[in-house]
Amino acid sequence: MSQSAVPRSTWSNRWAFILVTIGSSVGLGNIWKFPYMAGSQGGSAFVLVYLICVLLIGLPLLMAEILIGRRGKGNPVSSLLKVAEETGNSSWWGVLGWVGMLGALLILSFYSVVSGWIVDYLFKALTGFRVETAEAARQSFDTLLGNPYQMALWHTVFLVLTVGVVARGVVSGIEFANKTLLPCLFLILALLTLWGCVAGDMPAAWHFMFDFKLADLTPVVALAAVGHAFFSLSLGMGAIMAYGSYLDRKTSIAHTSLWVVAAGMLVGILAGLAIFSLTFRYGLQPDEGPGLILQTLPLAFSHMPGGGLLAIFFFLLVLFAAWTSAISLTEPFVAWLTERLSIHRPIAAWGTGLAVWLLGLASCLSFNWWNDYRLFGLNLFDTLDFLTSRIMMPLSGLAIAIFVGWAMGRTAVADEIRLNRHAFTLWLNVLRFLVPVGITLVFVFRIFGWME
Ligand code: TRP
Repeated sequence: MSQSAVPRSTWSNRWAFILVTIGSSVGLGNIWKFPYMAGSQGGSAFVLVYLICVLLIGLPLLMAEILIGRRGKGNPVSSLLKVAEETGNSSWWGVLGWVGMLGALLILSFYSVVSGWIVDYLFKALTGFRVETAEAARQSFDTLLGNPYQMALWHTVFLVLTVGVVARGVVSGIEFANKTLLPCLFLILALLTLWGCVAGDMPAAWHFMFDFKLADLTPVVALAAVGHAFFSLSLGMGAIMAYGSYLDRKTSIAHTSLWVVAAGMLVGILAGLAIFSLTFRYGLQPDEGPGLILQTLPLAFSHMPGGGLLAIFFFLLVLFAAWTSAISLTEPFVAWLTERLSIHRPIAAWGTGLAVWLLGLASCLSFNWWNDYRLFGLNLFDTLDFLTSRIMMPLSGLAIAIFVGWAMGRTAVADEIRLNRHAFTLWLNVLRFLVPVGITLVFVFRIFGWME
């Protein structure tokens, strides 16, 4: 595999890697999806299963994906090929890298459209937008969905922000952006949580998220939680592998992964508490679904003193989270273009952006002009979401677990992960048995539509 002569970038230090990986993981998944899923899937039961899944399935897999990237020191395809070759495995494993890279671009195309909605609401907040009734809140969201020009505009803005960062390089682009945006994100989140404590109904939010009732724990809830654990940790799509490839040999994979997982859980929980405390304080329902932060919350903001300012902070928070995640979805393919085809990074990044932009336009249209074109009843937007989150992500996650757990062999794995004997055996066995079984269960149930 030919590689360009440019020396490979390396993150400035361990914290830089932890930060960019947190940036990838914390996204719309944690702030938009987690609260609304918890809200519509029985609250605490979902939260509990999600936390367990993140630790038992997400964490081991996150470590495996970083491991492949760091050992292969390349884009997802070349890393997998190199590690497969080193450990005497078939070069077919390289396909996994392709599935990841292309899957990441597919996700990015609709992720950017949803992020565009967030930019739209940020813009609305900045211009003093208010909604007085639930009906008005719903209408303003429907108006956005019905207007492909407006959606395309914000989709374009978001993608330009994302690609602009990736084009600047690994350290001066990706690392710099994460180092700037994430501290702001945490600050805003802390502020919102405090605000929730003061102006919202925090005890109600707390009970809703943490009072565990066994009766709420249905298979549907459990499986939704496993699926979500996957998405929120950015697993299976080569993003973490690409980031791991810029990690130096000295850093402990287990230690950094723990930080990433902890931060992701913390953000989801704090965002949930902040959102639900306001939702309950204004007598609104937590189970609105995807509209929770775009319809329910704006309503709460409009009724509370200082709500206008709070809305600005809130949508900035979501935007920063989405932005740092989108960056990680772009990087794998850009890395491949620069390394394999020796394309200059800015050109590779903007070219990738253009392709994703076009695909994203199709997603914008699927809510209005093309709403009648449906595949199994799903419009293009939902089809892409289904294909990536329900098929590609679990399957490549499964393949990664099998590759690291069974195919690579203990020696190479132990050499890279460098855990003490007990921890290593525990991790490897979880990766070999629990992770594949967990993923297979979710996959089978979701594919046959027995849930959600
Ligand atoms: N984890 C991100 C979120 O929660 C989304 C994301 C970023 C992602 N990179 C990914 C999902 C790679 C799957 C694969 O919003």
